[in-house]
Amino acid sequence: VTARLTADRDFLSTPIDDRIFGSFVEHLGRCVYTGIYEPGHPQADEQGFRQDVIDLVKELGVTTIRYPGGNFVSGYRWEDGVGRQRPHRLDTAWHSTETNEFGLHEMTHWLEKLGGNELMEAINLGTRSIEDALRLLEYSNVANGTALSEERRKNGAPKPFNIRMWCLGNEMDGPWQLGHKTAYEYARLAAMTAAGMRQIDPDLELVVCGSSSHSMPTFGTWEQTVLKETFEDINFISCHAYYQPEDGDLESFLASGADMDSFIKHVASIIDATAAQLKSEHSVFISFDEWNVWYQGAEPSHSPEGIDNWPIAPHLLEDTYSALDAVVFGDLLITLLKNADRVHAASLAQLVNVIAPIMTEPQGPAWRQTTFFPFALTAQLAKGGTVFEPKQASMQHHTQKYGMVDTVNAVAVQREDGSLAVFAVNRSLHDAANFVIKLPEGNFTEASASTLYEDDIFATNTKEHQNRVALHTNNTIVLENDVVVVELPPTSWSAITIN
Ligand code: AHR
Repeated sequence: VTARLTADRDFLSTPIDDRIFGSFVEHLGRCVYTGIYEPGHPQADEQGFRQDVIDLVKELGVTTIRYPGGNFVSGYRWEDGVGRQRPHRLDTAWHSTETNEFGLHEMTHWLEKLGGNELMEAINLGTRSIEDALRLLEYSNVANGTALSEERRKNGAPKPFNIRMWCLGNEMDGPWQLGHKTAYEYARLAAMTAAGMRQIDPDLELVVCGSSSHSMPTFGTWEQTVLKETFEDINFISCHAYYQPEDGDLESFLASGADMDSFIKHVASIIDATAAQLKSEHSVFISFDEWNVWYQGAEPSHSPEGIDNWPIAPHLLEDTYSALDAVVFGDLLITLLKNADRVHAASLAQLVNVIAPIMTEPQGPAWRQTTFFPFALTAQLAKGGTVFEPKQASMQHHTQKYGMVDTVNAVAVQREDGSLAVFAVNRSLHDAANFVIKLPEGNFTEASASTLYEDDIFATNTKEHQNRVALHTNNTIVLENDVVVVELPPTSWSAITIN
């Protein structure tokens, strides 16, 4: 297999928005409780936050945190999570008991400890409405002098939270969603909510729900309807996508990035068509605010059942990721970067324990899943950079789900210091690829590569073997005459730096 990528400084795309490296903390399973928050854990600080988890989240390099859901938010009363009274409530999305011990104030404290990461707050447009959204906004962003801003101050936050980014509901196109709506029902509610929120704080950045997946039966018409009704009052439309192998078809699974790419391109076309129809100059971008590999049908994703069975923080969606999963995951990151002109925010779903790069044991250790590595290295190398317009020529192969796909998928980023970072995935199950990078003008003298590759593509990191899968230095790399050549093993992900 051969593939070539050409990086030319005359063809730089828009700068990468750091928000593309966001993640997601939902009240789901053990993401919050015994994940980021576990009072009494030997590593917990005075506020109950696990310091070992904070350290790993910092190392991962995530930016914006989307919170508090997900499906959870569509039945959530934010008032339950502030002040002294913290009622236990049913969480019907995940058939659990929500203790409300952790809420908005705790989240803002945790974000401060992370280093001031931005909060992306989701509001409940499932069971609730405009008034509740406005109340939450007043509570969060008004300095003082009103009932709700004074209540926030009384609850220990003298300064407003000043939350800029808001999701207007979650996956409202999904029949599983509490308060699921038709496109038009949702579009009108989102439009009215957005307009109301702007009466309080005009410069908010608002995200409307797009489709829960590229394959939703309503995909396309949902976006058309929602964008038509809300266009001038919103800044983002969301995309969500989860991938898993189906019927053992690993070739198609390895090409998941191709589907994500066409999903983004389809949504971008609908945004452009809507702007044209409305004769609007307004810009709307994509917030890819849930993406990951997720084994949805597997045992860890079975919710508890029964009227007498509402556990607190059960083990849910605790997928253990393999090297293969991490390669697909790395490809999804490459795809987000390639579309950085349209995707200005994204959230890896999720952060800790729940389909997560970081796992914890209650009262025990925290460790890195295989997917941790591509995320951390991409964030480290690409933040603040600018993507080169994708110019790639790769051999192709056939997949059952997506037809012909490029075998190698890659993206080049110009870093702030003028050096280059190139991320590449080899989607072939069996064949290594000879990957050639044609460098832009410049005096490049050094090239190195880190590769995620395992002979056993199903190898995982577990509590017992926390470092089984990691990145390895790829010694095949050669830099000569403005060209870098590197061998990409089959089913591998690589990050290449060129100085
Ligand atoms: O991330 C897990 C779930 O996936 C979220 O709660 C929901 O929005 C999506 O269906």
